[in-house]
Amino acid sequence: MNMSLFVYIFCIGLNNVLSHDFGMKTHLKRNVLIILIDDMRHLTDKNILLPNIQRLAVKSIVFRNAFAQQSLCAPSRNSILTGRRPDILHLYDFYSYWRDTVGNYSTFPQLFKENGYDSFSVGKIFHPGISSNFTDDFPYSWNEKPYHPPSEKYKDVAVCKNKQTNELQKDLLCPISVNMQPDGVLPDMETINYAIDLIKTRNSSKPYLLAVGFHKPHIPLKYPHKYLKKVPIGEVQPPLMPDIPKNMPIVAWHPWTDVRHRDDIRSLNISFPFGTMPPKWTLKIRQNYFAASLYVDDLIGKLMRHIDLSNTIVALTSDHGWSLGENGLWAKYSNFDVALKVPLLFKIPNKPPKSISTPVELVDIFPTLLELAGLDPLNSCKYYKSNQCLDGKSLVPLMSNKPNKHESTNFAISQYPRPSEHTVNNSDKPRLKDIRIMGYSIRTKRYRYTEWISFNHTTFSRNWNKVYGVELYDHTVDDDESNNVYNIHKYENVRIKLSKLLRTQVDLQ
Ligand SMILES: *[C@@H]1O[C@H](CO)[C@@H](O)[C@H](O)[C@H]1NC(C)=O
Ligand SMILES: *[C@@H]1O[C@H](CO)[C@@H](O)[C@H](O)[C@H]1NC(C)=O
Ligand SMILES: *[C@@H]1O[C@H](CO)[C@@H](O)[C@H](O)[C@H]1NC(C)=O
Ligand SMILES: *[C@@H]1O[C@H](CO)[C@@H](O)[C@H](O)[C@H]1NC(C)=O
Ligand SMILES: *[C@@H]1O[C@H](CO)[C@@H](O)[C@H](O)[C@H]1NC(C)=O
Ligand SMILES: *[C@@H]1O[C@H](CO)[C@@H](O)[C@H](O)[C@H]1NC(C)=O
Repeated sequence: MNMSLFVYIFCIGLNNVLSHDFGMKTHLKRNVLIILIDDMRHLTDKNILLPNIQRLAVKSIVFRNAFAQQSLCAPSRNSILTGRRPDILHLYDFYSYWRDTVGNYSTFPQLFKENGYDSFSVGKIFHPGISSNFTDDFPYSWNEKPYHPPSEKYKDVAVCKNKQTNELQKDLLCPISVNMQPDGVLPDMETINYAIDLIKTRNSSKPYLLAVGFHKPHIPLKYPHKYLKKVPIGEVQPPLMPDIPKNMPIVAWHPWTDVRHRDDIRSLNISFPFGTMPPKWTLKIRQNYFAASLYVDDLIGKLMRHIDLSNTIVALTSDHGWSLGENGLWAKYSNFDVALKVPLLFKIPNKPPKSISTPVELVDIFPTLLELAGLDPLNSCKYYKSNQCLDGKSLVPLMSNKPNKHESTNFAISQYPRPSEHTVNNSDKPRLKDIRIMGYSIRTKRYRYTEWISFNHTTFSRNWNKVYGVELYDHTVDDDESNNVYNIHKYENVRIKLSKLLRTQVDLQ
């Protein structure tokens, strides 16, 4: 497969004008399938073709500029599911459950359940553990106990063979033989089988909301080795801009400790924190990430063969992106585009495909799904004993080319916490008690603008006057965010304008 020849679907520019009304106040309730992939970045033509996602995307409304609220699993997932930003949930790490800490906010699966749907969680939807009260928010969000693939318990056992010593290690790169695994299976395979079985044997006249969550391509990159052969190393491209961005404030950086602590990477002796990945390994990691993505794509294809697209709304996205050596970084944990940008598409029965470049956010999924399913919108705070409404906005007006009453909010806001302005060993995943700084970032069509400011983890208050770093990247000339131009005279007015917009928007919350 010649990957450089493929133009990935998120870059195509269809421009269908939709004459239909999207407000689906119909008696016929549609099923909803939401596919949530773990750590799947927004892949582009420079990367790889994922044939099954592509097959779905050519029929879908595709958002080419969709951004996560925070590039970390638990905060991003809780934000998607509750339609609220990390600052409302007070969740920036893995260690609090919103219902017990900030407010009894409903989730969107809960609202579907309360409106006559059966709602199911299969695989990784909520981040497991404290942030979903060790129950994946059951019974509030789901009709049945969420399904977790049993083989996930082996997620961190040493099964990756070191070619030199033949020893089994806990590697980053881990193509395996499935039949050699402890249960002869991998978690995402079990997840898909369970989801298909559920659809096939379900005995109910009610519509369903089925959330299917993949564990890959989250690290370790453990997947059936046959996918590695589909991504020849000779065709894998290095990142265009592999260096730390020019004039980047160090607070924007993180040491990607989870990557460097895997056995294969640790043995490379990369110095902490600024040592760089050897070029050969950069290519190998990219190759394995793409191969693991192909594995997930294959399973998505398998699932889609059982979905009746004439009566099912399908949404597909990921919790956040993943740096593959761009900006000198690996993994998530940052405010760079590659860590925040995700695939986002909606396949809607009888609606023609469309490609939308307006920046949107994952908090928008909640109100969008409600509107697409014809459930009551939430602008009125009707469902909440709270004076704060949903933080996102329905994307249906954008889909239907209606004049966007949110025209002035065509941007995405994200954030990432840091324990220190220096790069320390927990710069990537600070616990709440260690957070001293918050990086707030706004992405417009043209710019990414970020301010790293003082943040009090007890009062959750911000001090915009104590600034640790400012970043401005101009995507028309620097799509890779390799050159921070915040202090260049030419951009002074842009910087002032974006700073004001960012501060106003963040303080609205
Ligand atoms: C929180 O919401 C759930 C679901 O609506 C409800 O069952 C529960 O009683 C609420 N808890 C509190 C403390 O209000
Ligand atoms: C979360 O779990 C704890 C311990 O099981 C329980 O006491 C608490 O009520 C749960 N919270 C909610 C909102 O159900
Ligand atoms: C389907 O549900 C009905 C009503 O609950 C029940 O009588 C029937 O046995 C069920 N069939 C299967 C195959 O589970
Ligand atoms: C890493 O360091 C260890 C211990 O000093 C050494 O044995 C090994 O050869 C080094 N590996 C590389 C790739 O430099
Ligand atoms: C991080 O660094 C601190 C201080 O240098 C040290 O006390 C701590 O053990 C380190 N933590 C980890 C996980 O390496
Ligand atoms: C955060 O706010 C609390 C309460 O006002 C205060 O006691 C504490 O010193 C503040 N922390 C920092 C790091 O400023």
